[in-house]
This record gives sequence, structure tokens and C-alpha cells, in this order.
Amino acid sequence: MSSRATILVVDDEFGPREAFRMLFKDCYRVITVGSGKEAMAIIDSEGDKIDLILLDIRMPEDDGITVLQEIKSRNPEIEVAMVTAYASVETARDALKYGAIDYLIKPFDRIDAEEIVRRGIMRRREQRESKVALQRLQLVNSTLQGEIEKARKDVKEHFVGTVRALIAAIDAKDHYTAGHSERVASLTRHLGKACDIAGKELELLCQAAQVHDIGKIGINEAILRKKGPLLAEEMKEMQMHPAIGAEILASVDFLRGVIPAVLYHHERYDGTGYLRGIKSDNIALYARIVSVADAVDAMASDRPYRKAMSVGQVWQQLYDGAGTQFDPELVKIALNIRLPDIQQYLTNTSRQVKR
Ligand SMILES: [Fe+2]
Repeated sequence: MSSRATILVVDDEFGPREAFRMLFKDCYRVITVGSGKEAMAIIDSEGDKIDLILLDIRMPEDDGITVLQEIKSRNPEIEVAMVTAYASVETARDALKYGAIDYLIKPFDRIDAEEIVRRGIMRRREQRESKVALQRLQLVNSTLQGEIEKARKDVKEHFVGTVRALIAAIDAKDHYTAGHSERVASLTRHLGKACDIAGKELELLCQAAQVHDIGKIGINEAILRKKGPLLAEEMKEMQMHPAIGAEILASVDFLRGVIPAVLYHHERYDGTGYLRGIKSDNIALYARIVSVADAVDAMASDRPYRKAMSVGQVWQQLYDGAGTQFDPELVKIALNIRLPDIQQYLTNTSRQVKR
């Protein structure tokens, strides 16, 4: 296959057609036709191989501007130089507005013709190279996008695995609360649904519940396992676990949404909790929900310093804590609206639940 550039000469007169052919045949592949119709047939069959068209502006059957527009609509990348007589110079200038690269005046000057053809071929080559470079760039871009997406998925999967491992590590450190995170997540799901939270929001809420105590990983094991009441210093350290948890989660984009629930799950509705001592609606809703679920599971579980409460005692504590420890609306929902769900949760759990 020839690597020479291809010039298409479109002129109804034999003389100029041949003059162009003779002038350029040694350096380029030259095709000559006598009308716009024939030119279109060549463009359709040769496709992208045509580099430059030398187009007569006035032919018996064709208006040069119309032919130029037709060429550009079929293949805007083909360069076109108009060929005109003095009488049509104004029309040739107009052609520049429609994408012609330049125009030659008949009888044309050989040097001018060579210069216009050289310029047209070079511009076409540059366009081709830009197109190839753009395609390569798009390919690289789409490959990169795919890799970024895969990396993001990997990080997410690894992180979910890591969170599970951390929860398992907390459970191992603190035997008395083993399984607590999963149970709180399960109970939180019941409460969330009862609060009309659904879809992605419900998943986010449950993730928050699952990792709410993740900060305990940074708390001294002796404090976590201590059977008696904690000393003031020990209590101070224990109360850092929401902040430690938030710090761990802050480094992961897709879990940032759970931070308020983790950070504020020990706040109390009346403002006497920790970490910030904020109250009522200032506490994020998800934190208020996790707080109720957390307390229910804690009350219904054996602790180092007490045995698990009965279901009745748990409900009583919830009722008594409405408006002080807990959001009263959430207590109402837990006690009245979806009581059977929670009752079932407490009954089904594998822990020892006293009745
Ligand atoms: Fe906690």
C-alpha cells in the first residue's frame, strides 16, 4: 500500500486537471474527476485515504460552495483548496468560511500551487496524528478509569474485611461484649426500619452500628475486662473510644457517613453523656438510634459486674430513660410500634436472656 498522500482534483476542464496531475504525480497519488458527483463517489469509496481536494469553484453542473459543504459534511477532516478564475475570487474567499484551507487563481502559479498543497497535506497529517493521539489518550483514560474502579472496589472489600477483623479483635479483647456489635447492628436494623429508614441509608445506619465500638481497639485490655467499677482515670480512657473510632473511620471515604453515629453514640438526650455533652436533636439521629440499640443489648447481656436483665426489665429501663438517656420518640417506637420485632430479637438471640 502506498504511503504517499492522495490528492483529488475536481475540475470540469481537462486542461487544469491534467496540469495538476502532471505537477503533483511524482510526489503524490493524484486522482482526477470532472464533477462534484464523481468527487462524492470517490470520497465514499476511498474513505479516509483522501488527504486534499483541489476543487474548481465553477463547474457547469455544480456550485463549488455546495460541493465543498457536501465534502465537509461527509468527511470534515479532508482538506479542500478552491481553484478559481479571477471573476470568482470573492466566492473563493467565502469558501474559507466553510472550511476551505485556501484558494488558487487560474491560471495558477506553480509555486503557489505547491505551497498550498504542501500546507494542506501537512495539516491533514497533523490532524491524523492528533486523532491517533486522542484515541490513545481515551484508551489510556478508560483503562485507568477501570483500574481506579477496581482499586476502589478492592479497597472497599479489604476494608470491610478489616472492619470485621477489628470487630473480632475487640470481641477477643472483651469477652463480655463478644458478638455485641453484630447484635447492635441487627437491633439497629429493626429500629431503623421502624423509623422509615430504607435502602442505602438503612445500610449506612447498620454499618454505623456494626463499627460503633471500633475505637475500643485503642483501649487498654485491662480496662475492657475489668470486673468492678472503673476508676475515674480508667473511665476517662474508656470514654475516648468514640473519638478513637471516628479517627479510624475518617481515613476511609465510603465510611465517613457513619462517623457522627460512632462519635455520638454515648451522648444522652438530656446532654449529660459523652463525648461532647450535646443534647436532644443536636445528637445525630443515627447516633440516637444506635444508642438505644446499644443500651438494649448491653442491658440484655451479662456484664462483668451484673447479670443480664430480663426482657421486662429492659423495657422498663428504656421507658424510664425516655427523655433523659434516650430520645423519647425512639423509645416510643421501640416500646409500642415495633415491640414484637425487638421482643423476637431478644428471644432469638443465642445469649442467655433471663425472663
Ligand atoms: Fe460504645
